[in-house]
Order: sequence, then structure tokens, then C-alpha cells
Amino acid sequence: MKNIVILISGGGSNMAAIVRAAQQGDWRRTLDAQVAAVISNRADAGGLAFAKEHQIPTEVVDHKRFPTREAFDAELAAAIDRRQPSLLVLAGFMRILTPGFVQRYEGRMVNIHPSLLPAFPGLHTHRRAIEEGCKFSGATVHRVTAELDHGPILTQAAVPILPDDTEEALAARILTQEHLLYPRAIAALLPSL
Ligand code: GAR
Repeated sequence: MKNIVILISGGGSNMAAIVRAAQQGDWRRTLDAQVAAVISNRADAGGLAFAKEHQIPTEVVDHKRFPTREAFDAELAAAIDRRQPSLLVLAGFMRILTPGFVQRYEGRMVNIHPSLLPAFPGLHTHRRAIEEGCKFSGATVHRVTAELDHGPILTQAAVPILPDDTEEALAARILTQEHLLYPRAIAALLPSL
């Protein structure tokens, strides 16, 4: 059985989509994989309740307890490694990772970002896409490298930006696609890990 560990910081709707895919439907029949833990850097992350309700072990590694990024990442890595994951999934995990951490999980760590990378890495992606007058935006699943929101692209979904779109409306349109894209991308990757 291959273990997946998911890191979250907030609502965890992408994590929920992955858990649902892993616990039911095609995934369950075709892939010998389970979500072994959901780990958050915030105790108040909304997604933790969903994970518990779905019998997924949860853990909080609060970044505020650590004096340096290195110290936080070392504790986080220890929590992750206890689950022996084949794949580490960042799902709305809003911490910058140290190069040592990225190297440790090289080739088996993925992220989802709400833009068509390499456009608009970082924060406020939807606002920036609207302000630039883009006609499309979307979501990208990519392998994680040391540079934030970079790394080889595994798959993307594009959505239109409509006239008079608000940041919130665009974010919601993209998030709906993220929930379809991320479980599919992980299912495609898992057999090679
Ligand atoms: C998602 O839109 C995800 O793409 C984004 O945070 C949101 C998390 O939502 N991630 C990033 O911006 C990473 N750079 P969720 O907690 O409901 O899955």
C-alpha cells in the first residue's frame, strides 16, 4: 500500500477532493494507495475536521513554535517520515520550504497553484490575472523544486476570465477545476513512485 501525506494550511478543499478520490470510486479500485496523514502548520486549519471525520490521522506542526525555518522543516519532516510516504502533496500549504526539505522529498513532492504557471507565481494570483487583462487563467499541478511555485509542470486546467469577473468569482471557478485536476494528477503519478 502506497502512503500519501498531505500538507495543508487552511480550508483543505483540495485535500478533501483527494481523500474522497482515495476512499471511493476508480482510485480505490485501481490504485493501492491511501492518505496516511494530513499535516497542518496551523491548529485552526478548517481541513483538519474533514480529515478526522474521514478517519485520516492528523497532526499539527505549528510553525510559530520554531525559531527558524530550518527547525520547523526538520520537525515537519519527522512527522511526515513517520508515515513513510511515497508521495508528499502540498494542498494550500502556505509556507516557504527550505532547500534541504525540498531536496529530501525530491521527485516525490507535488503542489497545486491557482494560475497557469509560469504566469503569476506567489500570492494574489487572481487579482493579478484580472488586472493584466488575461482572458484565461487556471490551475497547475507541478513537481516542487527549491524555487516557489516553479518546477516541472505535470498538468494544467484553463478557465476563462469573464468580463467584470471579481477575484472571488475567478478563484471559485478555478478551485472547482483544482478539485478535478489534483486527484487525477496524483493518480497518474502514483504508479511510477
Ligand atoms: C488553492 O486554490 C491552491 O491552489 C492555493 O491555495 C488554495 C487552497 O485551497 N495554493 C497556493 O496558492 C499555493 N501557492 P484549499 O485549502 O481549499 O485546498
